[in-house]
Amino acid sequence: MLTDDWMQGRFVSLTPALPRSSAAPLVPGWPTRSIVLGCDYNPEQWSPEVWADDTARMRELGIDLVAINIFGWAHLESEPGVYDFAALDTVIGLLHEAGIRLNLGTGTASPPPWLSRLHPEILPQSAEGVTAWPGGRQAWCPSSPVYRERSLALVEQVAARYGRHEALALWHVSNELGCHNAHCYCDTSAEAFRTWLEARYGSIEALNASWGTAFWSQRCRDWADILPPRTTLSAGNPAQRLDFRRFSSDAQLEQYRAEAAVIRRHSTAPITTNFMVTAHIQALDYFDWADDMDLIANDHYLDHRLTDPIAELAFSADLTRGIAAGDPWMLMETSTSAVSWQPVNHAKGEGELERTVIGHVARGADSICFFQWRASQRGAEKFHSALLPHAGATGPAWQRSVELSALLDRLEPVVGTRVVARAALVFSWESWWATGADTHPSGLLRYLDEAHRYHRALRRHGVTVDMVRPGDDLTGYDLVIVPTLYAVSDVAAAIIRDAVSTGAVALITPFSGIADDSDAIRLGGYPGAFRDLLGLVVDEFRPLAERATVSLESGATASIWTEAMSTSSAEVLDRFVDGPAAGLPALTRAAVGAGAAYYVGTVLDDLGLDALIGRLCGEAGIPTRSLGDGVDLVVRRGDDREIVFVINHRDEAVTLPLTGRDLVTGALLDGPAEIPAGAVRAVLSERSDRGA
Ligand code: GAL
Repeated sequence: MLTDDWMQGRFVSLTPALPRSSAAPLVPGWPTRSIVLGCDYNPEQWSPEVWADDTARMRELGIDLVAINIFGWAHLESEPGVYDFAALDTVIGLLHEAGIRLNLGTGTASPPPWLSRLHPEILPQSAEGVTAWPGGRQAWCPSSPVYRERSLALVEQVAARYGRHEALALWHVSNELGCHNAHCYCDTSAEAFRTWLEARYGSIEALNASWGTAFWSQRCRDWADILPPRTTLSAGNPAQRLDFRRFSSDAQLEQYRAEAAVIRRHSTAPITTNFMVTAHIQALDYFDWADDMDLIANDHYLDHRLTDPIAELAFSADLTRGIAAGDPWMLMETSTSAVSWQPVNHAKGEGELERTVIGHVARGADSICFFQWRASQRGAEKFHSALLPHAGATGPAWQRSVELSALLDRLEPVVGTRVVARAALVFSWESWWATGADTHPSGLLRYLDEAHRYHRALRRHGVTVDMVRPGDDLTGYDLVIVPTLYAVSDVAAAIIRDAVSTGAVALITPFSGIADDSDAIRLGGYPGAFRDLLGLVVDEFRPLAERATVSLESGATASIWTEAMSTSSAEVLDRFVDGPAAGLPALTRAAVGAGAAYYVGTVLDDLGLDALIGRLCGEAGIPTRSLGDGVDLVVRRGDDREIVFVINHRDEAVTLPLTGRDLVTGALLDGPAEIPAGAVRAVLSERSDRGA
């Protein structure tokens, strides 16, 4: 536990040996020794002599779970309807003998070359009409009936053969659905889009009204007039684009559902697929997918194109937990060191593997799996790191894998506990999509950047945040952050209002509540959905040029966005000193019922953000700690225990008061503890408030 006032002294000191967590295992009926350690395994890339060595080494490393048959299609079905399972039978047999459980791929991720030779119509097309050819992976149109039929025929074979296999722990549908083929603009997709729109709108009149086709002579007479948002000469219709995003997410989900339905006829094992909750992928609204998953699994790789890849990891892990509704989740893929798909592929530094893995565990992952087991010798990923490097089971890279496995064993008491958060951040794929339109007041106000900024600021204060979807119940949260919720339904806006009136502190940031969920402007003054709650009206947006900054009376600096607002019931807390909104309010607070609604009409610099977060947490009664960037402080709690995670990514020590047994080093801590540069702590203590 964290001692001093941080947790208000609700915990007694440590009991050194707590029993194994009583929480249900992540996958029902699937006993594991601890945090699950798993990997992707692609035995088809290797000759059979290597397989026995692989399983022996996996045992040595303590691998619990192996994802296989992810890209197996061309091997299993070498010509149409001719299946050969001999090799997969052998590999599964070897894994089973070694006591390793299967995370069994349906094998549909990448079709064999013969399928697109016989049916080139399955190949996806870009908005410009360019065909994506085989030679890479995932070259299939998500709406193709031919691809659907052939892929389900394969799933039928795989599920019938292995659906009751003793070693089967989990089904892994396809692979990273929508990674490369999320948006297809071909004629088949156009037809499917029309069908989807008919189901959504019922009549062409309703579609015309919702899309605002009165504008620029876009009125459709017939469903056949409708196309996907292919390349246009001028800006396209934003409502059409938003619906195409929704349709495309649903089209991928349909493929998942179709494969899962086939599996269910043969197997009771849990079914999932690997999400890509990460900065540069926005195609699928995973909140919509969650109910179809037996457990939530995510792939995450550090993205060195970002300014703070570690902060993005924390964001991604929190968002994955949000999709999982707070339940423990599975990290289905990560890398031991470098990837092979960024402009420069950075190797992980000293201790970075441990820090990044524990970063996911701290934020709710109970399983850690790697891409991949053995580094490929050939192909597009041969420079991607792996648990078993090109050098073999020798040398520092292998040693790091061994040490990580031992560390995960020591984290056994964490299994089944849940992350504690009193703050919520409302995250919306739809607002992410809609805010990205190229006809808005400023292209510099980017949805994801805005959400990240607030997440980072909370993290700098040691405040863990749950990510919730608009419309989710906010009961129990003392602080609600609403970054740039541009397009919002009446229901979602009402839930935020209710949370405030019953006592929460909410912060709404610029360009929120502007449109409804069909991307039509809410009339009567911005920000339509939140105007009354905030007690103000924004008359005009006054965005700033790139790199321009303005000053605020408080001394803070801001950039990107200013606006001209007038207040009614809101109190003005800060004003612009210069820039296009000089003299006008920049930060306001309205007392509403038992709570308070804050509004910030600009993008504050880190100093301004820190002051604001400090104030909001103070009013919400959430304890803070000035950690600064580069330190994670997260608490997971079970019925009888809690674990305080501290991850120091910085190159200097940090000191925090900790009491309990550190699961990483075994040390007993009681009082101020120095966490050296780059070190990780997971401090276990007993809860004194059990059942309270
Ligand atoms: C993932 C994918 C894996 C592998 C990995 C490399 O996106 O699911 O198959 O390509 O990236 O980082």
